[in-house]
Amino acid sequence: MSTLLEVNNLHVEVEGKEILKGISLKVEKGQVHALMGPNGSGKSTLSNTLMGHPKYKVTQGQILFNGQDLTPLKTDARARMGIFLAFQYPTAIQGVTVANFMRTAMKARFGEAFQSKEFRKTLKGAMASLGVDESFATRYVNDGFSGGEKKRHEVLQMALLKPQLALMDETDSGLDIDALRTVSEGVNRLRGPELGILLITHYQRLLNYIQPDAVHVLVDGRIVRSGGKELALELEAKGYAPYEKETVAS
Ligand SMILES: Nc1ncnc2c1ncn2[C@@H]1O[C@H](COP(=O)(O)OP(=O)(O)OP(=O)(O)O)[C@@H](O)[C@H]1O
Ligand SMILES: [Mg+2]
Repeated sequence: MSTLLEVNNLHVEVEGKEILKGISLKVEKGQVHALMGPNGSGKSTLSNTLMGHPKYKVTQGQILFNGQDLTPLKTDARARMGIFLAFQYPTAIQGVTVANFMRTAMKARFGEAFQSKEFRKTLKGAMASLGVDESFATRYVNDGFSGGEKKRHEVLQMALLKPQLALMDETDSGLDIDALRTVSEGVNRLRGPELGILLITHYQRLLNYIQPDAVHVLVDGRIVRSGGKELALELEAKGYAPYEKETVAS
């Protein structure tokens, strides 16, 4: 196994306020790590920071991707390297169709223009396997999409862009039971020795579909516990209260 992502003692500030207070995490190639934690604990802050969102300032620590320091790199460079973020709240892009968006993104990622016919075939195949209706290709990105449709569209992007590191920020929220299964199957199909996934979720249920190699609990900007899949079951039963007390006491 080789290390895909290594985060060392990461401290991050947003608008002058420290949100992440020393996160360390190692994702090996081929692994799925689940990140759980109460609202406002810093889960999206971590994924936004890994993706290079300019608002999130690294004040201490290090992010290594395939051994390379990511800190000086902008978001587009990180995306071209194969880091992908499925947004918790995907935004609409007026005037840009799903097909055009995907074609541009694929050209940026793989550095080559796809022939129209080949691209249409690839897009159609990916849409079919994720249960996305063909009509979405000509709709504007996320414009008027339902909550679940937006999440499926995020996974569609992931399937086509073939990232090395996928950051999935609550991709399961808003999905109905059937969509959860379809989307999870889609993610499982993408799993392989080269892909690492950081899966942010509030629900143990998702981890029945996508089996994690590790589960981490984030409370108030710190990882307070790491363990296996059983940790998610324990959280479901007891909630975060025991960890919140520990944080206050420490
Ligand atoms: N762009 C921002 N501007 C101001 N504050 C921010 C910003 N991003 C995050 N924060 C603050 O950082 C803290 C952590 O937020 P974050 O979105 O990372 O939490 P989360 O763990 O993803 O929560 P949730 O489960 O509700 O999605 C919150 O107090 C939030 O208000
Ligand atoms: Mg969040």
